Amino acid sequence: MSTESEPAAFPDYAQVNRTLWNRNAHDWVEAAERHWAGEPTWGIWGIPNSHLPLLPDDMRGLDAIELGCGTGYGSAWMRRRGARVVGIDPSERQLETARRLAGEHGLDIDFIHAVAESVPRPDGSFEFALSEYGAAIWADPHVWIPEAHRLLRPGGELVLLGSGSWNDVFIPRTPAGSTGTTAVHPYFGQHRIEWVDVDDDAGVEFNLPVSKWFSLFKDTGFDVLDFWEIQAPPEADGTRFSVTAEWAKQYPSEQAWRVGRRQ
Ligand SMILES: C[S@@+](CC[C@H](N)C(=O)[O-])C[C@H]1O[C@@H](n2cnc3c(N)ncnc32)[C@H](O)[C@@H]1O
Repeated sequence: MSTESEPAAFPDYAQVNRTLWNRNAHDWVEAAERHWAGEPTWGIWGIPNSHLPLLPDDMRGLDAIELGCGTGYGSAWMRRRGARVVGIDPSERQLETARRLAGEHGLDIDFIHAVAESVPRPDGSFEFALSEYGAAIWADPHVWIPEAHRLLRPGGELVLLGSGSWNDVFIPRTPAGSTGTTAVHPYFGQHRIEWVDVDDDAGVEFNLPVSKWFSLFKDTGFDVLDFWEIQAPPEADGTRFSVTAEWAKQYPSEQAWRVGRRQ
């Protein structure tokens, strides 16, 4: 089985998003270096793993994969916890950062050029899969969630964190649009969220109403083990990725799931 994927075989939106991430990869290097050097913190508000326990402390002996690893710090955190780790991402530039930092930190991690919708690894290769703002928001959940199921062994776990399902309802699709308190898009029916024609620094994102995420997990063969609606901490301020801290103290700007593959 090939270990690399041809970009031409990526879904249409993944080609758009790959170009975007290659163009912007340099903007993520500084944060990557900080994250690689530190302990796990999650999402746009930097919640420590002790408050939002997405990674077990002990991952010794586990085969783990990060789906949309970007600069690879999630992979590094899993490797340091003892897992054997594969990270996949469609952006060559993001993978360059990930591979450089793996070398500098002396961590052996297998970084592969691929999309989460079609991972060049056999069925049942992993016991743990992670996505923090990778596949979790950039890949079509109706395609990548079944693919994650295929990759996991029975009893294996998938952990994902991304934008809250209410964000798109309250963010106007304009260049400087940020969360307001007026609904501007419908909640029901959300799926493919097009930013391409609005903002040069944006692409095609995905999200679902919360009930549709539950149905998707159930129908795919996952049991939901944990579901977190994430609130910005009291000290948070400013605007991060179109979300104001004030809004995120009142509404769940991010959500995370831990789901287990049924036996
Ligand atoms: C914000 S980064 C998230 C990764 C990591 N947490 C980080 O911040 O470095 C988003 C990553 O998702 C990747 N991505 C975009 N489309 C994807 C797809 N279809 N499958 C997997 N990853 C994808 C992008 O290339 C990008 O590197």
